[in-house]
Amino acid sequence: MSQTSCFPRRTFLKASAALTAGALFNPLAQAANERRTVIIDCDPGQDDAIAILFALGARDRLDLRALTAVAGNVPLNLTERNARIVRDWAGQTKTLPVYAGCPRPLMRPLITAANVHGKTGLEGVELHEPLAPVAQQHAVAYLVETLKAAPPHSVTICAIGPLTNLAAALTEAPEIREGLREIVLMGGAFFERGNITPAAEFNIYVDPEAASIVFASGVPIVVLPRDVAVKAPITPARIAPFRAIGNRCGAIVADIMAAEVKYQKGRRGAEEAPMYDPTAAGYLVDPSLFKGRMVNVVVETTGQWTLGETVVDWSGHSGRAPNATWITDVDADAFYAALRASIATLP
Ligand code: RIB
Ligand code: CA
Repeated sequence: MSQTSCFPRRTFLKASAALTAGALFNPLAQAANERRTVIIDCDPGQDDAIAILFALGARDRLDLRALTAVAGNVPLNLTERNARIVRDWAGQTKTLPVYAGCPRPLMRPLITAANVHGKTGLEGVELHEPLAPVAQQHAVAYLVETLKAAPPHSVTICAIGPLTNLAAALTEAPEIREGLREIVLMGGAFFERGNITPAAEFNIYVDPEAASIVFASGVPIVVLPRDVAVKAPITPARIAPFRAIGNRCGAIVADIMAAEVKYQKGRRGAEEAPMYDPTAAGYLVDPSLFKGRMVNVVVETTGQWTLGETVVDWSGHSGRAPNATWITDVDADAFYAALRASIATLP
């Protein structure tokens, strides 16, 4: 997989059809108390950084094997660099590999959110030079190789950026679905409007073709959309307990959260910010904190005004088979308590 490859439209359509035809649902669910094997696909990104730290602090629940970086909030050279900075913060430089993936969406030019996350992608915190290099292997090749070799339905992908890497891997080797337990992704919006256009949420909008491939894959999917992100907002009162932990990662999380609230205050006058990517990590740590419904989700890939919209069949009108669990509610206070408990275990 070359660094600059993208797929001609016919490949995208063929991939979608192939994946739908072989729809797989995993009847096997590991015991609730087993540690989940997880790979986080990310575009750090302020909230990605908190999600990664959340997962790294929850070692009793999650076995985080690698970070795969994708272009999104900022270009790939920064998202992979930021992923390496975050692993340094957690003291995991030598134990958590970072792979760089696709530098642009499958079929479109890259759109970034540097206006939100800052030109570094981690606005609000002091950054150091990463202590170790990125892995040599391309992230898509790593995903294909790892998932092909994995025991059946054993690996969870936590996708918290545009879905380009995952879609490319599924297109290149559909058989990797066998190695996947679940895809837990932050993306989409249904009861809430979009945050990059009135109709679309950023992760889906950046690469709608990739999102469409993932939703057609037949792999069990859990979606943490804007609908739930806005129900666990970051507020100054929720930031203080992280600073009070007294460790490096607590201060970093507090600084990032404060920067997110500052951006929202400047943009819409509200002293709060949606909690995006960490809800995906939170679901992995304790799914009992969340509520949702099995529904059919399709992604708009041609709409002039609705490109990237996640069309959720909440009432079953379409007759299309459910392909995702769409999360709409969270016990917000318990979520922040779990996040704080995890961050408190880090350096
Ligand atoms: O819409 C929020 C999502 O877009 C988050 O993943 C954030 O990091 C950005 O990538
Ligand atoms: Ca993200």
